[in-house]
Amino acid sequence: MAERRRRLEPPLWEQLAEASRALPQGERLQKVLAARGFGSRRVCEEIIAAGRVQVNGEVAVLGRRVDVSADKVTVDGEPIGLRDDLVYYLVNKPIGVVTTASDPQGRPTIVELVPSEPRVFPVGRLDVDTEGLIVLTNDGDFAQLIAHPSGGIDKEYLAHVENGRVSPAGLRRLRDGVELEDGLTAPARVSQPEAGVLRLTIHEGRNRQVRRMCEAIGHPVTRLVRTRVGSVADRELAPGAWRHLSLDEVRALGKRTRMAH
Ligand code: URA
Repeated sequence: MAERRRRLEPPLWEQLAEASRALPQGERLQKVLAARGFGSRRVCEEIIAAGRVQVNGEVAVLGRRVDVSADKVTVDGEPIGLRDDLVYYLVNKPIGVVTTASDPQGRPTIVELVPSEPRVFPVGRLDVDTEGLIVLTNDGDFAQLIAHPSGGIDKEYLAHVENGRVSPAGLRRLRDGVELEDGLTAPARVSQPEAGVLRLTIHEGRNRQVRRMCEAIGHPVTRLVRTRVGSVADRELAPGAWRHLSLDEVRALGKRTRMAH
């Protein structure tokens, strides 16, 4: 009985240690890792349990709390890196949602689809009638780099178009660059997986660019979905849903952009 009670009630020093670990300045390690894109909390617990995480040079145990502004956290020897106040979301925008912060017409906005704190903004734009992937962040430098037309970030779209199969000549025009009222577009990568459906990859970000390109070759767009931003794609993300970008995805987008400059 005495043995049982001892086990139920940990010694005082353990209780104090537990209480100090629960101080508000510390965040649970699995939460910190999950927020940085290492996976769900469950996956992050497994990473910790596997001994892959160190805090200030010591292997971390499950339940450990850290103050990310002071503690050095590594996974497999790599610092977790990103500032803890920065967030990066990938959102699958449904039709009817605007990508501006507010809308005079009262339509739903993209920022309403993600947590309200910290405040984030969309990187680039999608038309209200376009669906698909868009990144939201509170990292202004990152946003500026990847939204900049010269950033060289590829964006891939699936466009359903009117008037059936696009002819080889039409595809060639899209590939060579289309003359629009604001000038010639850069060459696009284009394929036609089925008649009247185009997969286009562009890296410019002009207003309604894909719609205007397709219209210019006589095939107005009836449905437009952005399926990839840089190397980031996600077929599982439901319309209206969001997830954190993984650390690798953030780094890949940032690196790709900086290389292009
Ligand atoms: N091109 C368009 O025409 N619309 C978008 O939303 C994005 C690219």
